[in-house]
Formats: sequence, structure tokens, C-alpha cells
Amino acid sequence: MVTEHEENRRDFLLLTTGLVGAVGVGGAAWPFIKSMSPSADVLAQATTEVDISSISEGQMITVPWQGKPVFILHRTPEQIERARTDDNASMLDPESDASRVKNPEWLVVLAICTHLGCVPQPVGTGDYGGFLCPCHGSHYDTSGRIRQGPAPENLPVPYYTYKDDSTLVIGKAVG
Ligand code: FES
Repeated sequence: MVTEHEENRRDFLLLTTGLVGAVGVGGAAWPFIKSMSPSADVLAQATTEVDISSISEGQMITVPWQGKPVFILHRTPEQIERARTDDNASMLDPESDASRVKNPEWLVVLAICTHLGCVPQPVGTGDYGGFLCPCHGSHYDTSGRIRQGPAPENLPVPYYTYKDDSTLVIGKAVG
């Protein structure tokens, strides 16, 4: 029997492979893939444009930005509601969900655990409905906020803008 988590994980992997190339989800995967990246000048680009039109509700992709992985999650109403409800919960690094998203439907966070830098697993793997970092057991919620484990801070939100309804631009253009 295929669980919902396994389906989410499979969808994530398919999307990741189809849209932006294979980017691993395990702790050791990103450095390995990173070493296969094409060139330093490409990695150093200031912005990454992402077509989000084909990311359906509940799905997530990982894109590279300046050599770092970024999670882009199209949140479901349940994930949004859970994040907002948890605004009142005890937090290690208190931030409201509203302060971390420009549009509640889209969560954009650096996929780098604030403990020692592993890449967390996809949404739905953690105890709070969010992301689990398997390296030492840090749990982030559906807003990317640290809720349990040794990580000291929330997953960082990079600078990003919406170019139009279907295009997200991560980073700031230089010059
Ligand atoms: S690197 Fe994520 S919990 Fe240690």
C-alpha cells in the first residue's frame, strides 16, 4: 500500500527531476549533486526564475539558487491553516506565518537546516506537518519554522518577488 507520504515524496521527486534536474533530498545528497553542477558562473547568478504554473497544490520542488537548494511549496489550505494556528504555539524562533510568506499559498525557504546545514526532507516528513532534517532530528513546520530538535533557527526565507502570476524570481538582480 502506498502511503500519502510516499505519494508526496514520489510527486516531489518527479517534479524535481522534470523541472529542475535531480536534486537530492537526503542530508548528503546536495553536496554530491552540487559537485556536478555546470559552472561557477552559473551558480553565482544573482537570481533564479522559476515557472510555478505547473506546481499543483500540495506539491513542492527544489531549485538551485546561488548554489543553494530552495524549497518552493504550493501549500494546501490545511497547511496554511496549520501554520497560522501554530502562530500561537511556543516557538524556538518566534515568527508569524504571515511574516514568512508573500502569498499564503507559496512557501519559499532555503532548504538548509540551521543546525549543521543538511538538506531537510520534503514537506510532510516532520512531526508538525513540515520538514524533517534527518541528520539530527530537527522538525520544521509548514511555515519552515523550527519546532523541535537541535536547529536554533527557522529555515531562512530568501529575497524573492513575483514577476507575474506564474513566475517566481528568487534573489535580487545585480546592477
Ligand atoms: S543538520 Fe539538521 S538537525 Fe543537524
